[in-house]
Amino acid sequence: MDNEKKIESTRKKVNLGTLRHLKKEGIPASYVTAYDYPSACFADAAGIDMILVGDSGGMTMLGYANTMPVTMEEMMFFSKAVCRGAKKCFVVGDMPFLSYQISDASAIQNAGRFVAEAGCDAVKLEGGVRMASRIRAISDAGIAVMAHLGLTPQSISLAGGYKVYGKNLDEFKSILQDAIEVEKAGASFILLEAMPEEPAGWIRDAVNIPVYGIGAGKKLDGQLLILHDLIGSFVGDVHPKFAKKYAEVGKIITEALATYHTEVKAAQFPSESHLYPVDVAELAKIREFCASSKVIKTKSSR
Ligand code: KIV
Repeated sequence: MDNEKKIESTRKKVNLGTLRHLKKEGIPASYVTAYDYPSACFADAAGIDMILVGDSGGMTMLGYANTMPVTMEEMMFFSKAVCRGAKKCFVVGDMPFLSYQISDASAIQNAGRFVAEAGCDAVKLEGGVRMASRIRAISDAGIAVMAHLGLTPQSISLAGGYKVYGKNLDEFKSILQDAIEVEKAGASFILLEAMPEEPAGWIRDAVNIPVYGIGAGKKLDGQLLILHDLIGSFVGDVHPKFAKKYAEVGKIITEALATYHTEVKAAQFPSESHLYPVDVAELAKIREFCASSKVIKTKSSR
């Protein structure tokens, strides 16, 4: 067994204990979104610690302009596929708009679907103090909750668009208060989105639970990126500053498809190596049958 395979097979399933241990040791957790089976398998094989089945899948996979239209059924579809592929990663299911805002009871019911139906390890919801009661209800039901603070895309219409949070004292105080309250309410982790590095680090220092970031600098317990930003396959207009591109998968796919298209048009594909062989004697019988057939009209290739 080569070294890489050995590491992969001996790697244990990441759980809450693992994530707390990483925080204690000061080792940042790697966290990426995924929405389908192959991507989850790739993340697992790469040794990624955590997967977010984000409602960003509405934009990256389904072509919505933002995350607001995403439904529970779509999130279940994504989450089940991811959980089938992610054997070792810790999987967080993202609660879509209106799946938790209405009542504690519906929040528990929908959070429960992520865990019981799809197999997720935790759920994420957007909001701080105003969601404390939902966080308490879900965690009292035995489900680990990640509270998403800072830029919260499901409130984009209220916020007036995408912006960076915590750039002034009032905003910082409000996020700090949110972080303290969600921890008190039973959140197991926090995710900070779109914040300057220093203030984000001070939020992390104010609570005991792991604090991860997306576009919030390095002074945190881990980093999240959207898969399609990371691999260069996002087809859309939103390209945040923090989204480092590690590959050009979109370009590779487009080039492969263009070459295929050209080869089909030029009758270069399929070539000899892509054809199934047939016994010569059987082929002769089939040819003879076709030649005498009234149904088969094309004579040219016989
Ligand atoms: O849905 C998602 O991917 C998210 C991230 C933007 C944090 O919520």
